[in-house]
Amino acid sequence: MSKRFTITAALPYTNGPIHIGHLAGVYVPADIYARYLRLQGHDVAFICGSDEHGVPITIKAKKEGITPQDVVDRYHENIKTSFEDFGISFDNYSRTSAKTHHQTASEFFKALYDKGEFIEEVTEQLYDAEANQFLADRFVVGTCPKCGYEESYGDQCEACGTTHNATDLINPKSAITGAIPTLKETKHWFLPLDKHEAFLKEWILDGHKADWKPNVYGQCKSWIDEGLRPRAVTRDLDWGIPVPVEGGDGKVLYVWFDAPIGYISSTKEWAQRQGKDWKPYWKDEDTTLVHFIGKDNIVFHCIMFPAMLKAEGSYILPKNVPANEFLNLEGQKLSTSKNWAVWLPEYLKDFPEKQDVLRYVLTATAPETKDNDFTWKDFQARNNNELVAIFGNFINRVVVLTNKYYSGQVPNPNALSDIDKETLEKVKAFPDSLSKSIERYRFREASQELMNLARLGNKYLADEEPWKIIKTDPERVQTILYVALQISAALAIVSEPFLPASSQKLKTMLQLPTHSWLAVKSGATLLEPAHQIGTASLLFAKIENAEIEQQLEKLAQSKLENKIANKVVEPQKETVSFEEFSKLDIRLGTIISAEKMPKTKKLLVLQVDTGIDIRTIVSGIAESFTAESVVGKRVTVLVNLAPRALRGIESQGMILMTETPEGKLVFVNPDLAHGTTNGLKIS
Ligand code: MF3
Ligand code: ZN
Repeated sequence: MSKRFTITAALPYTNGPIHIGHLAGVYVPADIYARYLRLQGHDVAFICGSDEHGVPITIKAKKEGITPQDVVDRYHENIKTSFEDFGISFDNYSRTSAKTHHQTASEFFKALYDKGEFIEEVTEQLYDAEANQFLADRFVVGTCPKCGYEESYGDQCEACGTTHNATDLINPKSAITGAIPTLKETKHWFLPLDKHEAFLKEWILDGHKADWKPNVYGQCKSWIDEGLRPRAVTRDLDWGIPVPVEGGDGKVLYVWFDAPIGYISSTKEWAQRQGKDWKPYWKDEDTTLVHFIGKDNIVFHCIMFPAMLKAEGSYILPKNVPANEFLNLEGQKLSTSKNWAVWLPEYLKDFPEKQDVLRYVLTATAPETKDNDFTWKDFQARNNNELVAIFGNFINRVVVLTNKYYSGQVPNPNALSDIDKETLEKVKAFPDSLSKSIERYRFREASQELMNLARLGNKYLADEEPWKIIKTDPERVQTILYVALQISAALAIVSEPFLPASSQKLKTMLQLPTHSWLAVKSGATLLEPAHQIGTASLLFAKIENAEIEQQLEKLAQSKLENKIANKVVEPQKETVSFEEFSKLDIRLGTIISAEKMPKTKKLLVLQVDTGIDIRTIVSGIAESFTAESVVGKRVTVLVNLAPRALRGIESQGMILMTETPEGKLVFVNPDLAHGTTNGLKIS
């Protein structure tokens, strides 16, 4: 029976391109799910768009000296195009700066306001007097009151995932100026989450214990157990949707209030284009609403947005929120600022035509239950050993042999052997097992099951060896290729959600008539005898070491650039204890006379006024300085170095020297401008 589904994928922040972390966590699983549902004949609205408000965008604009609108215009196009080129099958990709969205979000706010669902309150909020601005969300960092992480944002801690109010931060600091904020009174509207606690408890804790993923359920439970508090849904900022009620001047909606409403506005935009009514997709109890998100979005999609929807009263709630954990890259956390990522636009440039490979690898290693690691070696191995060696190899053999033996016509089968029957029975079981995995949001398991179908085909051919018996038993070969062609057709059909481009290619190769998922399940003949197939073309190509090395080289470059940017250099010598260091008696002195030590190239004999005495110091600097040029110089002297005789003259200390980046020797003295030397390296 056809059902209605509204599938949403988190609206990406419009301050940078999409990377593999976004894809693995949200967009690939959501796309598999949406494509799968469409294949079942369901009515699907697969919705997304750009999240264009919020502090990260303002920060990016400030950094680049452009307007927030410039930032979102640039990245909205970038993101939208790369999703299209990658083959994510959104029914609509909108943006939260769109007029429809501003209207929808404003109306939503007003509806809650009119119903008295907000608390309006003047409270003291963090304020940066230097920047003349209230500090909320990512404009302020401080220690997380829950886990102690020192870089928590004002609204959410990235380490433990909790959300809090900016005033809860310990030792808050302005992210704009670094200033310690003061408190200043301002009016805001709060959504009293505490008021919805009973409902959330019943709906999530009692209602979804069995069907929500343990990571999602667990997070919700721990928040609810801790007790929910009112959350401000407005901000004193100038980038966002203006607060549409009296007293809202100069204030905007909190980005996490407006963004999820973006799902609704994007659905409206789509429905209008289709000449449909958007309302059933959000208001009909028969509609299944599912949110695909990353784990840092759980609280907003499971607690806050549902509380908003419930408070409004006319909306349905999500049936499920299959949040994923995070993907790492080569053992390190993905990071936009450190350029530690595989960016989608770059991937598409480096690997054109390999969308399905990335989809497959990201699905096979999806961070569904815990964080997971993407490595280029694994990417290569999964392509070469699975897609090429199993899936591609099987299809290639079937299509080549059918063309070679039967001019591309599906042969008439003779009596089926037990193996043939068993094999076809097994094929029939795949649609159900795939459905089961997909409907439980276990895409990783599903992708392996899909590969098992290819494996089954590959093994069948390898065992039956039609190429060996074509001369001796051509009748048997007809049956073998007939069976193998049915498996190929089944693969073309059920692989569509996972490998859409390859599925299409394969359907063209087989000239496959349209069949449903159910046809495979029922064991119907998918390719009739005498049907003419096309010729073989390459489904998957081997990835060579050089291509992988090039990618690793890119990452090494990022690492190097970070190193330069941070100048994190390991100490070159062993650590000394404070006690050891404090033994050094270092003073500022002046060279009062100097002469060359006879018969040496390097040594100058100096008389140095150390402030406590005048003493002789023999210094190895004659190759860089003449005796005359050093007289009167201010220098740093180690005065308690054990005396040492050099060419018969006792040296009573040491002048501290350093080098410029060009290698020129200079005296360490307080007048050296910062950055003109390689630090205080004592040579
Ligand atoms: N922009 C957010 C992020 O990237 C996700 C917003 S999801 C929505 O984490 F529901 F608010 F749209
Ligand atoms: Zn924390």
